[in-house]
Amino acid sequence: MNTPLIDAKNLVRRYEMRRGIFGKPVEVRALDGVSLHIAAGETLGLVGESGCGKSTTGRLVLGLERPDQGSVIFEGAPMPEPGSAEWRSMRARMQMVWQDPLGALDRRLTIGEQIMEPLAIHNLGTPAERPARRDALMQAVGLRPDQGSRYPHELSGGQRQRAVLARAIATDPRLLVCDEPISALDVSIQAQVMNLFVELQQKFGMAILFISHDLRAVRQVSQRVAVMYLGRIVEEGEPDAVLHDPAHPYSQALVSAIPAPGKGKKRIVLQGDPPNPADRPPGCPFHPRCAVAVAACRSEVPALKPRHDGRLVACHLAHGDAAPLMRAA
Ligand SMILES: Nc1ncnc2c1ncn2[C@@H]1O[C@H](COP(=O)(O)OP(=O)(O)OP(=O)(O)O)[C@@H](O)[C@H]1O
Ligand SMILES: [Mg+2]
Repeated sequence: MNTPLIDAKNLVRRYEMRRGIFGKPVEVRALDGVSLHIAAGETLGLVGESGCGKSTTGRLVLGLERPDQGSVIFEGAPMPEPGSAEWRSMRARMQMVWQDPLGALDRRLTIGEQIMEPLAIHNLGTPAERPARRDALMQAVGLRPDQGSRYPHELSGGQRQRAVLARAIATDPRLLVCDEPISALDVSIQAQVMNLFVELQQKFGMAILFISHDLRAVRQVSQRVAVMYLGRIVEEGEPDAVLHDPAHPYSQALVSAIPAPGKGKKRIVLQGDPPNPADRPPGCPFHPRCAVAVAACRSEVPALKPRHDGRLVACHLAHGDAAPLMRAA
């Protein structure tokens, strides 16, 4: 295999959280040994329910935060200290797109000015060349150059996210980390913005870490998908394979929750309490909600390892002849 663009190994990230003003701080283990790699030009989709550690993974991959354990290698070199000069210059090669485009844009500047901002920060091109680059970027994301004189509040939600994308690709980054980039958008424009991601990737060839709780959205853009549960990756494989034949009991529940019109598919209703990273169960993190768990699941953490077909699964039961099947309610 070629050297991956991003190679993250065994990332552990803990936060301290206080319950009330006088409460004792408790440790929240947001990530508990996440490893992932992304090749140049590849899109990895990261899915899982709220609080499982997706955004934390994104921040660590971008070097915005340091892991407590583990390492992130970008283009063959360890991630520099956040805020250092080395880190700032590296940031031109990795950009992010967050959920809320209005929050990501400066209300006092026109979107044209904001799209040119990273060019000035990273000293790319001469000031005279930048307006032409701005117009080309706006066209690449489906905005008209004359819309560059507008302020963020004068654009629709979809147009704002296009502007954010134009700014993110201005420095020709090799990696985009996109954290729920379509979930704040109107359903009618989500599909357009998803298509735009595919187009931009084909045109500019950057790698993308695409974070979403929506497995279907992820499938549309990704070559590989990783499913997270309580700070760990529990399954990783080709999106269609994971969607049609999920191997991990948690992925089965996630897939069964996707509405499939006319198929009469039954939804697996998970039993037990929602996961709490401040109170991790021993053994497999999913075992308290798993209908097929056996004794080993309560004591031994299953490693993420390849199944006979190459699919990576962290489940004691998924490596035998027949994968475990969660029953629909
Ligand atoms: N700065 C922080 N301080 C304390 N706890 C944090 C902090 N950041 C994240 N956490 C906790 O770490 C866990 C993982 O959070 P994270 O934001 O990565 O989840 P997520 O998968 O992105 O969720 P969502 O889908 O809701 O965005 C959560 O339990 C969260 O409360
Ligand atoms: Mg998040």
